Formats: sequence, structure tokens, C-alpha cells
Amino acid sequence: MNENSGNVLRIALTKGRLEKDTVSLFESLGFDVSSVKDKGRRLILPIKDQNMEVVLAKAADVITYVEHGVCDLGVVGKDTIMEHGGKYFELLDLGFGKCKFALAGKKGENFYKGYGVKTVASKYTNVTRSFFEGKGMDVDIVKIEGSVELAPLVGLSDGIVDIVETGTTLKENGLEVYEDVAPVSARLIANTVSTKLKKERIDNLIGLIENKLGEK
Ligand code: PRP
Repeated sequence: MNENSGNVLRIALTKGRLEKDTVSLFESLGFDVSSVKDKGRRLILPIKDQNMEVVLAKAADVITYVEHGVCDLGVVGKDTIMEHGGKYFELLDLGFGKCKFALAGKKGENFYKGYGVKTVASKYTNVTRSFFEGKGMDVDIVKIEGSVELAPLVGLSDGIVDIVETGTTLKENGLEVYEDVAPVSARLIANTVSTKLKKERIDNLIGLIENKLGEK
């Protein structure tokens, strides 16, 4: 089923901070984002002057909606893209939502010491797997759903692979970054068919965004 066959450009935003940053970006482009700012509990919001529609979803769901073509575009973090994979185009680095994936653990300890297989806890098991595969290193990966910093503190793991933004969470829990894994920022993604059927509109939006980002 595809309820997105009209001329409206439908864009899925990751709820929360990326949503706010994207709305600010659209506002700086002169778009009428009043419906998104005053959304209440509504999940589909029109940007009428641009014949656009904003859909609000959780990060991984943004990718699902774009992959299925029910949204033409999506704004999602590179962290989710790296973990989720999938078939869509990554069009633009939006420059906000900056943070990084890092391998971290208890302060002062050497993660690579000794020959035993290390245990690594993460919410991002695919990112963790490919990071250690890249090193040719065998590790046991334990999936944790949140507050991953707890795992090395209670002795579940030797380290974690997680998002580090300010570093405060690590610091306040006696942990430190051992190694950077990958930089993360918000990306504009597109459904592969939409980039053909709505090429002009998407190219136009990209041009506006690139100009605006270039001003900074
Ligand atoms: C993320 C991440 C770290 C924290 C890093 O967690 O998993 O815990 O932010 O930020 P900092 O370096 O600025 O301290 P989030 O708040 O998304 O919640 P979660 O632990 O449930 O994933």
C-alpha cells in the first residue's frame, strides 16, 4: 500500500532533538512550520506553503517509512543508518545532531590487555560487530537497550560501544573513551523511487538546504 502517490512531498522526522533542529532549518528557509511547532499530539503535520507534509516517528521507523516509499524523505541520525542498513539513498549531511560512536570502559583500564575474548555491551550490535570485524578481533556482544554505561560498572562487560555527545555520562560514571568508532550527525535520506518521480522537488529542497548550510 502506498498512500504517498500525490504531489505532496512527505518527509519523516526523527522525534525529539533532530525534529527540533530540522524544524529550525525549515524555518530558516522561510517555510511555514507553525503546524509542526504547534502540533499537540498530531503525528502528520502539513507545511502548506511548500506542499509538504511532516511525519514524526522514532529513528528506526523513519528508515522503514522511507524504504517503503510512504515517505519520500527522512531525517535520521547516522547512528541509526549504520545500525539499520537498508535500501534508500543518503543525500545530505545536515551538520546537526553531531556526536560519535566510541568504544569506552572503566577509566584507566586497558581494553586490549590479555588474550581472553572480551565482552562488549551495546544497543548497537551491528555497529559493534563490524567495528571489531574490521580489526579482525573476536568479541562477545551483549545487547543492552539503554543506559549501556551500567554494563561495565556492574561487571557485565569489558567495554561498551555507545553514543558519546558531551562525554558527561561517561565522566560521571568513572568511564572513558578508549577509541573513537565513527562520527555521527543527522542525514537526509530519500526513497529510491521518489528521487526519480519527485526529482525536481527534491533537488530544489536540497539546493535550498545546501545554500543555507553553506552560509554558516
Ligand atoms: C545517549 C547515549 C549516552 C548519552 C551520551 O543516551 O547512549 O548514554 O546519550 O551523552 P553525553 O555524552 O552527552 O553524556 P540517551 O540519552 O539517548 O539514552 P539511552 O541511554 O537510553 O540510550
